[in-house]
Amino acid sequence: MSTNYNDLKTKIIDLKDRCLADIQSAVSLESLEEIRVLYLGRKGKIADFMTLLKDLSLEEKRVMGPLLNDLKVTIETFFFEHKHHLEAETFKQKEACYQDFDVTAYTPGLLKGSLHPLTLATEEIQNIFRSMGYKVATGPEVETDFFNFEALNIPKNHPARDMQDTFWTSIPDTVLRTHTSPVQIREMRKGKLPLALIVPGRVYRQEATDASHDYMFHQVEGLYINKKTSMAELIGTVKNFLKAFFKQEDLQVRLRPSYFPFVEPGIEIDMSCPFCKTGCSTCKQSTWIEIMGAGLVHPNVLRHGNIDPEIYSGFAFGFGLTRLVLLKYKIPDIRLIHGNHKEFLKQF
Ligand code: PHE
Repeated sequence: MSTNYNDLKTKIIDLKDRCLADIQSAVSLESLEEIRVLYLGRKGKIADFMTLLKDLSLEEKRVMGPLLNDLKVTIETFFFEHKHHLEAETFKQKEACYQDFDVTAYTPGLLKGSLHPLTLATEEIQNIFRSMGYKVATGPEVETDFFNFEALNIPKNHPARDMQDTFWTSIPDTVLRTHTSPVQIREMRKGKLPLALIVPGRVYRQEATDASHDYMFHQVEGLYINKKTSMAELIGTVKNFLKAFFKQEDLQVRLRPSYFPFVEPGIEIDMSCPFCKTGCSTCKQSTWIEIMGAGLVHPNVLRHGNIDPEIYSGFAFGFGLTRLVLLKYKIPDIRLIHGNHKEFLKQF
C-alpha cells in the first residue's frame, strides 16, 4: 500500500468531519447551497478526490472507491436533511410574520380615492328622476348639424344659431354638440312612446373661459312625451327634482317667458335661493337663481322625431349640470371642475 493511499484515507475521513460540521453550521438556505457547491459540486472537493482515484492501483481502488461513494452518500443525506430542516424553519418564520398581519389595521395618512363631484351629482340626479319613472339616455358628442340644429327647428342661417357658439369640425356638417337636446330627436326616432328620459352629458361651446364659463361643460336634458302633457306637469316635475336635489322642501320656482326654437311656449325657470332667505352672494342678493330653460316641445321637433303632433305632445327642459354642481357644493370657479387638483378633489 502506498503512503499516498494512507494519506488519502485520512484526508477522506477528515473531509467528512469538516463537511458535516459545515453543513450543520449553515443557518440559511443560501449558505447551505454554498457549502453544497464547495463539497458536492462538479468542481467540488469530492470531485477532486474522484480524480485522484485513477492514479491508484486496482486493489486500492477497490477499497477507496466504495469509501468515497460512501462519503458522498453520507454527505448528501446529511445535506438534504439539513435543507429540509432549514426550509421548515423559514416557512415557520414567514407564517409568524403573516399571523401578525392585520388587513383591517388603520394606517394613518393613507390617501383614499373619492368620486368626482360631477359623478356624485350625476348619480343623484339620475336617482331622483328614476324615482319619477324616467330612464337615462345618452348620445354622441360629435353630432351632425341635422340633429344639433336642423331637427330642433334651428334651420341654417337662423339667428338662433348664434345663441350657441359652435365648434365646427373639419368633417362637413359635423359639430361638437352645443347642447344635449339632439338626443331628444334620436330617442323620439326609436319609436317607443310614451317617453320619459333624461340625458346627462358633455357639451361644447366656443367661449372664452372664466370663473363661470368653460368651453366644455355638462348638461342634463329632460324629455317627456305622452298623449296629454301640460306646462303644469313640466313645472311640477322640475320643482320636485330641485327640491330633492337641494334637499329643500319649501323651494319655490318662478317662470319667465323665453325663447328656444325647439319649444313653444319657451320659458326659463328660476328657483328660490336654497342658501338664504334675504339675499346672499350666490343669488347675487336677489333670492332667485336662474336654473334652466324649458318649454313644450315644438310640433316641428315632434315631426322630425317621427311623432304626430296631433296625437302627442311633450315637454323638455335643459340645465347645466356643471352649474348645479358649483351651486350645490359652493365651488367658486368652474375651472376647478376639470383642473384635476388633488386637494380640491379630496374634499368629496
Ligand atoms: N338646449 C337648451 C340650451 O342648451 C336648453 C333647453 C333644453 C331649453 C330643453 C329648452 C328645452 O340652452
